[in-house]
Amino acid sequence: MIRVLFVCLGNICRSPMAEAVFLQMVREAKLDDRIEVDSAGTGDWHVGNVPHKGTLAVLKKNGVPVDSRARQVKLADLTAFDFIVTMDERNSRDVLELSREAPRAQVARLLDYVPDAVEKNVPDPYYTGDFDGVYQLVRVGCTRLLEHIRQSFDI
Ligand code: 4NP
Repeated sequence: MIRVLFVCLGNICRSPMAEAVFLQMVREAKLDDRIEVDSAGTGDWHVGNVPHKGTLAVLKKNGVPVDSRARQVKLADLTAFDFIVTMDERNSRDVLELSREAPRAQVARLLDYVPDAVEKNVPDPYYTGDFDGVYQLVRVGCTRLLEHIRQSFDI
């Protein structure tokens, strides 16, 4: 199994959106027996909660099923996952601070997989309210991430 963990700050806006979008792409590519998808937050404020209503609305509008509850990222994730895909630089820093050792997982931002993206951080819609804009960025990022994984593993 190739394991992909999306990480943001609260695990209620961006990372559950990316998890849902990526899982739909993986299923459409009939790769769900090869690729496993999860999400987590660096903070613990929303543990156990369903995604933010803005994330639920934009996913529903675009026909993307979602089924996730917030959890906090943990040290074991750095070895359990192959790819830890963060939404911004702060998330990457917080994930890497969980351990002094180099993680087994490849830690990178979602938009680092988009070579022509000028801005590499996905802005937080918890503060901006722009869930549609984030959805567009997440789609582009997830498309490129899946291409990267398919090429890397020849699947
Ligand atoms: P997310 O957005 O990291 O995309 O899930 C946030 C959600 C909640 C908070 C911050 C960001 N919060 O401070 O509660």
